[in-house]
Amino acid sequence: MFKPIRLLAASILALLPASAALAQAYPSKPVTLIGPFAAGGPTDTIARLYGEQLSKALGQPFLVENVVGAGGVTGTNRAVKATADGYTFLVHNVAPHVAGPALYAGATYNPVEDFEPVASLAEAAIYVVVRKDFPAKTLKEFLDYGKANPGKISFASAGSGSATHLACELLKLRAGIDMLHVPYRGTGPALNDLVSGKVDMMCDQGLNVGAQLKADAVRALAIAQDSRSAAFPDVPTTQEAGLAGLTVNASTAIYAPKGTPAPVIKALSDALDQAGRSELIKQRLEQLVSERPSGDRMTPAGLKRFTAEEFAKWTTTIKSSGIKVN
Ligand code: MLT
Repeated sequence: MFKPIRLLAASILALLPASAALAQAYPSKPVTLIGPFAAGGPTDTIARLYGEQLSKALGQPFLVENVVGAGGVTGTNRAVKATADGYTFLVHNVAPHVAGPALYAGATYNPVEDFEPVASLAEAAIYVVVRKDFPAKTLKEFLDYGKANPGKISFASAGSGSATHLACELLKLRAGIDMLHVPYRGTGPALNDLVSGKVDMMCDQGLNVGAQLKADAVRALAIAQDSRSAAFPDVPTTQEAGLAGLTVNASTAIYAPKGTPAPVIKALSDALDQAGRSELIKQRLEQLVSERPSGDRMTPAGLKRFTAEEFAKWTTTIKSSGIKVN
């Protein structure tokens, strides 16, 4: 560049608001995506999938760091304290994100007020699944068995407060049955023990359990949403199978610590929106038995509203029902 032009560029930059200058330079180094569940599980898989797209779009590595424990609270506590400079984000499942403070005294954040929502990334239905040789072929038979054998059915989860745990607690409440909770450090090990028959059932995300369902290694009794899924059209909804009021959305989203500059949020949200609409992501999510977010949840405003709604819903459910961590 000739000197006068360089001087001109420098003086234009000096006139720009600090935030605009920051956006021009962003990102200038690798970015960390905190994943609060174990590697290989749904949250981690979605974080890595979109991390790759962000790296391509924004020219710096977006790397997942798994900070695991307490149903996602350990990683979220770390994320809320991170410097809000656009180099640390949280990729979390919305249900455990909002449930954490009602369940764990050690949760040091408010999921709505202390984070800037960036975008919803993927949604996955929750399937009610049992080990292959469980003596119930339908949800009704399962619930009858549960009523006749209080506390005997064991259910595995990705940890106390995870979506897989909360969904089964809701099932217990709605059906009026008691079951034994066996928490693991991620969906992977939990599902392994279901496949090998060490535990009886799970309320698992399609992303995690899909391959084992296709391989007939476990049996699905119902899907906890309002309509059947394209991936497993023979699996009835919980409502069809005789249990009303059990719909659970396992939605993975990305949040920034409060105070992250608006141009950074916009750069990420634009790149994610574009990636989210691409054929590549559509196909990858289909393979992962997941879907693109519905409505406007891909936008910061849409995710903010959804997070606030889920926060109110889960906080009320947890407080009124006495759901506890163990
Ligand atoms: C959950 O809330 O159950 C998580 O999505 C589990 C995970 O991602 O491993």
